[in-house]
Amino acid sequence: MPPLDAPFRGALISRMSMQEKLDLLARRREESEQGGGAARLKAQHDKGKLSARERLDALLDEGSFVELDRFVTHRSTDFGLGEQRPYGDGVVTGFGRIDGRLVYVFSQDFTVFGGSLSETHARKICKVMDLAVRNGAPMIGLNDSGGARIQEGVVSLGGYAEIFLRNTMASGVVPQISAILGPCAGGAVYSPAITDFVYMVRGTSYMFVTGPSVVKTVTHEEVTMEELGGAATHAEISGVSHFTCSSELECLDGIRKLLRFLPSNNVDAPPRGAGTDPRDRRDEGLRDLVPDSPNKPYDMHELLRRVVDDGDFLEVQADYAQNIICGFAHLGGFSVGVVANQPAVLAGVLDIQASTKAARFIRFCDAFNVPIVTFEDVPGFMPGLAQEHGGIIRHGAKLLFAYCEATVPKLTVIARKAYGGAYDVMSSRHIRGDYNVAWPTAEIAVMGPKGAVDILFRKEIADADDPTAAAEQRVAEYAEKFANPYVAAAHGYVDDIIDPADTRPRLIDALESLQGKRDRNPPKKHGNIPL
Ligand code: HXC
Repeated sequence: MPPLDAPFRGALISRMSMQEKLDLLARRREESEQGGGAARLKAQHDKGKLSARERLDALLDEGSFVELDRFVTHRSTDFGLGEQRPYGDGVVTGFGRIDGRLVYVFSQDFTVFGGSLSETHARKICKVMDLAVRNGAPMIGLNDSGGARIQEGVVSLGGYAEIFLRNTMASGVVPQISAILGPCAGGAVYSPAITDFVYMVRGTSYMFVTGPSVVKTVTHEEVTMEELGGAATHAEISGVSHFTCSSELECLDGIRKLLRFLPSNNVDAPPRGAGTDPRDRRDEGLRDLVPDSPNKPYDMHELLRRVVDDGDFLEVQADYAQNIICGFAHLGGFSVGVVANQPAVLAGVLDIQASTKAARFIRFCDAFNVPIVTFEDVPGFMPGLAQEHGGIIRHGAKLLFAYCEATVPKLTVIARKAYGGAYDVMSSRHIRGDYNVAWPTAEIAVMGPKGAVDILFRKEIADADDPTAAAEQRVAEYAEKFANPYVAAAHGYVDDIIDPADTRPRLIDALESLQGKRDRNPPKKHGNIPL
């Protein structure tokens, strides 16, 4: 396709009149928006994908996008690249607004060399990343890229390294959000992996170190793109992605929604919620949520929905490690990060996946001044060979470390079980919980009654005339002594035992009281979280 400004080629810009210069500028601006041409754009649309610019239009407030570097071209000459120098070099960069708040963006254009990353493509991205950090605004990357541009060799690898460095430096300074909107490989997945939140779209998003053809050569495995790195794979199995969407528009809208809970940077407070839910709303229905039998499950989502503003809960990694629930909500208008055990899945036990999922979420909240509200009903850490061999000690310690180092306001509601190490881990008062309360249904002990009686009274029970009756007697005694919140309350380990109906107003009162919280960890280069 000939350049749109062909009539001007060869003309000396310095000799042009103002009108001719404006005409040239208009043609070149138009050309810079052509991407890889009409045929490739059609192919993109045929796959159900939007163009790089259409995505920005959907993401940002109308008319707010300001483009930077639209006239950048690559410098390569190898493999025929010298003949093709499209303006923009396969990525659209700049800044815009979401609900009026400043954000920096890049949007890769798959129609230009497969969105692959050249030296100049990387420089454009680095420029907006630097601006995002300097101006304290979230960085949003719309990724649709085959990774390092093969024709540029080490220069494109260097470009990725520059991005990885900036991702790392920006981590904990401004929120970084990645949408995966095509087949992304190599550096195009490692950069998102360092960012805080990864969105994928069913049927069109793929993330892998390298695609199925290379996998077949190296490991002799035959896999489809979907199995290897589709949205379901990363949502349910690998835990790489945080949000799964059915369409690109849903994904871009989802990013807008997420930002309603996040501050623009690590110094600002999160925005207040726009909800109208009364702060003193009580909910007597919560009294019936926890079943009488300690082994009967219930859905923790129900508790969350009833407590948070307008029942609006944005769950993160909803399909991964469902035995723990993480997500954002507003409480009395305050943005909070919620961490909750889920008794309906594996009894809410803490296993390797749940520990790493929640640890990363907690660290995000702590970095960005989002108070953490923990709802607890946990029988302990998952025992067994698979978990021990997989490193439950090391991974469970991540969760412990994350809660211990967090200095944001930490509120905890023990709804039912708080057994063993899990009692300590789940934001207990001992690790700087600020407001810890229990429902009357709480059971706080080293372990559940049956396990405890088996260890303490095994011999006595075996020698008894009626071992079953003896065991039942001891279980009842143990439950009476420990399976309640009053021992913890007598020690001041929980600040109060509350009527479940009052959970929302009590949490909002506490959040309000903690707005001026000042807590610091000792000065150090950084801790050494057990990775
Ligand atoms: C240059 C590339 C490219 C790349 C794709 N293209 N990837 N050009 N460098 N890395 C070009 C193709 O030549 C083609 O050009 C156009 O983009 C579309 O690509 P197709 O293959 O036709 O598309 P599709 O069938 O949808 O497959 C997409 C894909 C595949 C799965 C991404 O292209 C692919 O496997 N690419 C290579 C992935 C990869 O291994 N990258 C290097 C990673 S290493 P035309 O002109 O035909 O339209 C890396 C290092 C970073 O990134 C460091 C990590 C720590």
